[in-house]
Amino acid sequence: MNRVSSTLDIGALKRLRILCISETGWFDTATVFDDIRAAGGAQSDQYAIPWPPFGRLHAENAAGFSALLEAETTDGRLRRLLFDTGWSPEWMDRRFAEEGIDQLLQKGQIEALIVSHEHFDHFWGIRSTLRHCPSIPIYVPDGFHQTGLSFIRQQGHTGALITVAADQPLVLFPGLAVVSFPMSTLLQVEGENVLYARLQNQGLSMITGCGHGGVLNLLDYARRTFTGGDRIHAVYGGLHLSPLEDWDTQRDQIVQALSSYGIAKMACNHCTGRTAVEKMLASGLPVLRGTGRHGSQTDLFLGNGDVLELE
Ligand SMILES: [Fe+2]
Ligand SMILES: [Fe+2]
Repeated sequence: MNRVSSTLDIGALKRLRILCISETGWFDTATVFDDIRAAGGAQSDQYAIPWPPFGRLHAENAAGFSALLEAETTDGRLRRLLFDTGWSPEWMDRRFAEEGIDQLLQKGQIEALIVSHEHFDHFWGIRSTLRHCPSIPIYVPDGFHQTGLSFIRQQGHTGALITVAADQPLVLFPGLAVVSFPMSTLLQVEGENVLYARLQNQGLSMITGCGHGGVLNLLDYARRTFTGGDRIHAVYGGLHLSPLEDWDTQRDQIVQALSSYGIAKMACNHCTGRTAVEKMLASGLPVLRGTGRHGSQTDLFLGNGDVLELE
């Protein structure tokens, strides 16, 4: 008996390599949250805070989130995407140089910049990308503010700017899709782009900036939407579980629930939180360890300069 599948087949990749350029949004969390409190609290407009590159408030504390995706398609083609562009232009310039991202951008070997969301630590370092490749196509989530769109233009962007429509998977190339999730979070930020990759010999993998939509929601979306989504092979990026290192029973339940997805590789970092990662390790989740280099403050999880290989 034939069953008609209602899931979306995005195609498949032979291999995907994710290089963590930087997962350190900032170096000291208390400083960032003191700055936010002084600016009026969690509901204030992030652009009103004179952080770099708009001002010099605690400039030494700014770093940023950014990753390079290098995918090999089934016909042997290599396709590269930049996922986020960090916060401090000085920090991003340094990390781009150390990892050769500057060269790849200059040679036009990175085909697009996917901005996960408008938060300062993922997006405000866009100068570091555009100075090497002003024409790079940029994908932003639905909900991006005019201030952010104007900022992209002011930084000299000359290429295509695509707003990903909410809840409509967009296949960037066979095996890789971006989904824009509606959400509202800290500092008036709305909408987050999440990437889903399908490996030909594995199930589906999910790549997040912060995962503000909730890790279980984002995984469940994959399960019901994509062919292969019933098997989540890997997760990379920020899962926003204990960014302030606080904890409660609700978060214990999330960690417990994560065990039911059969995830083979948990490459979480950034705003996941050390507390959350320790809880994951204690409950037997396969968290990949890092090397604690290039500004990453722990080797508990994949950090700056570390790589996740999927095939
Ligand atoms: Fe973040
Ligand atoms: Fe965020």
